[in-house]
Amino acid sequence: MAPLITTTVAATREAVAQAKGRGMRVGFVPTMGALHEGHASLIRAARAECGFVVVSIFVNPAQFGPQEDLARYPRPFEQDVALCAQAGVALVFHPQPQVIYPPGYKTRVEVRELQDVLCGTSRPGHFGGVATVVLKLFNIVQPDLAYFGQKDAQQARILEQMIEDLNLPVTMRICPIVRADDGLALSSRNVYLSVEERQHATVLFRALTDVHRRVDAGERSAAALTQCAADLVAGTPGARLDYAAVVDWRTLRTLDVVSGQVLIALAVYFGPTRLIDNVLLEVKD
Ligand code: PAJ
Repeated sequence: MAPLITTTVAATREAVAQAKGRGMRVGFVPTMGALHEGHASLIRAARAECGFVVVSIFVNPAQFGPQEDLARYPRPFEQDVALCAQAGVALVFHPQPQVIYPPGYKTRVEVRELQDVLCGTSRPGHFGGVATVVLKLFNIVQPDLAYFGQKDAQQARILEQMIEDLNLPVTMRICPIVRADDGLALSSRNVYLSVEERQHATVLFRALTDVHRRVDAGERSAAALTQCAADLVAGTPGARLDYAAVVDWRTLRTLDVVSGQVLIALAVYFGPTRLIDNVLLEVKD
């Protein structure tokens, strides 16, 4: 069935209140649209636990840097609604920027420290923009559960911290990374890649697989592991490493020795297009 589409705060709240009134659990999947199987997997996870699933489609200006791709970010709205209909979404919230940031808007949420490392280094202000819009979307939709992808691991960690710090009445779920057959993590930005770049883009997954294998084989030096990943990227035509990092999952601080819950994260440029990928490992010894 076609989902209800709302564009205002009042209409969204009203529809959600009605669903809650009928005793339904509300699941929420925030997105920027250009939906793919990664988003669909979050919707399926939400459907499995919630009677009423809301998807927001909003390309959030506050999380794009001045030199970034805000204007050309893909916006295939009709296709997105069709995917939502197929996946059993009850409500699509599709606000215009002025609904979220009306004239005179002033407030911004910062999740200190976690926002400044990894992707935060090359995208200053990005995670403040993400935290701000997600808090607003939570307040508009008022979901019981919210679903995010491990694909954007730092984003998920930051939002988890925000939920905890601000006592938000939302339970967060982090869902596994959905990949193409050759291992490339699905992303709305993959459409920017040329045919050649698309082929070489598998280097992220290959590097992470290699690092994972080395950890399994007993390698515990973070420097040795990041060097292996960097070497693989350096040997790939058109690829330029932004960072390869081995960090503690809770603090996102760089580790010297791999131990505990460890996030291994990669960001690689192909021309102006920046791709990210990661693997989360539990290292016991
Ligand atoms: P967007 O990039 O559209 O992603 C929406 C959600 O889909 C995020 O939680 C992201 O981690 C998840 N996702 C994307 N690709 C995935 C994949 N291959 N496998 C699993 N999950 C995947 O992330 C954002 O939008 C925005 O920052 C947002 C949270 C909506 C705030 O504006």
